Amino acid sequence: MHIDELPTPALWADLDVLESNIAEMARRLPGNRLRPHVKAHKSTTLATLQYEAGHKGFTCATPREVLGLAQAGLGDDLLLANETVDVNRLTEMATSGARVTVAVDSEATITAAATAGIKECVIDIRVGFRCGCEVEEAHGLAELARKSNIGVRGVMGYEGHAMGVVDLERRRELMESAMERLIQAHEVVGGDLVTGGGTGTHAINTWVNEIQAGSYVLMDTAYTEQVDQPFRQGLFLQSTIVSVAEKFAVCDAGLKAQGMDHGNPSWSGGEVLFCSDEHTNVVPDNTLKVGDRISLVPAHIDPTMAKHQSLHIVRDEQVIDRWEIDLRHW
Ligand SMILES: Cc1ncc(COP(=O)(O)O)c(C=O)c1O
Repeated sequence: MHIDELPTPALWADLDVLESNIAEMARRLPGNRLRPHVKAHKSTTLATLQYEAGHKGFTCATPREVLGLAQAGLGDDLLLANETVDVNRLTEMATSGARVTVAVDSEATITAAATAGIKECVIDIRVGFRCGCEVEEAHGLAELARKSNIGVRGVMGYEGHAMGVVDLERRRELMESAMERLIQAHEVVGGDLVTGGGTGTHAINTWVNEIQAGSYVLMDTAYTEQVDQPFRQGLFLQSTIVSVAEKFAVCDAGLKAQGMDHGNPSWSGGEVLFCSDEHTNVVPDNTLKVGDRISLVPAHIDPTMAKHQSLHIVRDEQVIDRWEIDLRHW
């Protein structure tokens, strides 16, 4: 089937781009130097390609991602890089048959993990603006985890505030001050793992011993403005022009079909004016007529993937496969 025959809106990925991004990252950060974050794509099929490229451990944001990877036989080493006090879900993870490590940053998260029978954790350190404990609390929390029969594998710190900064020197500065805190915490916590980083810092964060990048597989628009990114954008939202006015045209893929927190999608055929619930208004460089198809490029891949049930796989404009986005929800 040609992409123009897809019922729209439809999400599709350029397989050549996807494969070359995965291969390039595996060359830069081989094996366990990368723990791919599956929240970016939420697909066990895509995770299998990353596994086959040599990355046997995964980073997850939700219990659902952990359980889905475990069920798919990809449970060699799963890190829930997020806090939860949900004992039922923690118990499901503990009994999933996978090696599961959870991030903890408080007594409450340690108690919940211990009650559920979780065997391993990392101490999550606040190096930015998300979860994590203060460096000064790290030792006490590690002691508590060990007393609660939870092995402490090391520390985690996600420098999210540095990730999207375009200026390389500014990004490096922000990352370094964050990582100084992480290393201080590691000195008192111990363990083999110092885990953090993402697509935006994968090339400059030499402080951690594993990078948790995820978006590199299909790429966000903001990352493509960074000079040190070798990855290309490969995710598209296929839509149909449903109305044409004198100065603009309207297609049938709006904000309900894509993540908008990073702003408007881009489009190679002209300017994107704005998105509403079910529509995007564009100003085409060349005349468009009702029924024409256009491919928008969503600005932020994570929330876009989470809005779709399946991803069409395309080579040379032909749909050659369809992968379930099977790790959605929580
Ligand atoms: C804990 C954690 N690690 C790593 C990442 C990096 O992901 P990406 O490569 O998509 O920037 C994120 C993204 O939000 C995250 O929350």
